[in-house]
Amino acid sequence: MQRTFAVIKPDAVAAGHQGNIIAAIQESGLKVVALKTLHLTEAQAKGFYHVHAERPFFGDLVKFMTEGPIVAMVLEGENGIKRWRDLMGPTNAAEAPADTLRGRFGTNIERNATHGSDAVETAAFEIGYFFNGLELAGL
Ligand code: PPS
Repeated sequence: MQRTFAVIKPDAVAAGHQGNIIAAIQESGLKVVALKTLHLTEAQAKGFYHVHAERPFFGDLVKFMTEGPIVAMVLEGENGIKRWRDLMGPTNAAEAPADTLRGRFGTNIERNATHGSDAVETAAFEIGYFFNGLELAGL
């Protein structure tokens, strides 16, 4: 079993797609082991995306991720990191196949509906950034 961190981004929450996205996760066989809704501050978004701090799009990314509420989740399943990334589709929603979540609910490389960890180490950092031990215990 492998855990990964998932976000339903502000564009998809504002458009009311969270129910469809969570349904797709459950239909795929991945288990939602923790979930919370929150509205990130600028500092919180910068901390989450710190690895991209030097990228030219960093400011735009932080602005987008703080424009409204998000849904943060921990997903679990065999090969969970790859399965969630496959379900999301490629980063650029404009090029994502129509049967992926980004293809269905995203718009472009910034407004791409969902986030998923890209590696075991990233998942560990991201899960710990959003959820404490008590929120993850006993599941
Ligand atoms: S990399 O090199 O694979 O880490 O980068 P990439 O996956 O392409 O992008 C990382 C996250 O940055 C977002 N992104 C952007 N936001 C705004 N504007 C532009 N031009 C842009 N390019 C990339 C992208 O949506 C990724 O967000 P997450 O949340 O990680 O999916």
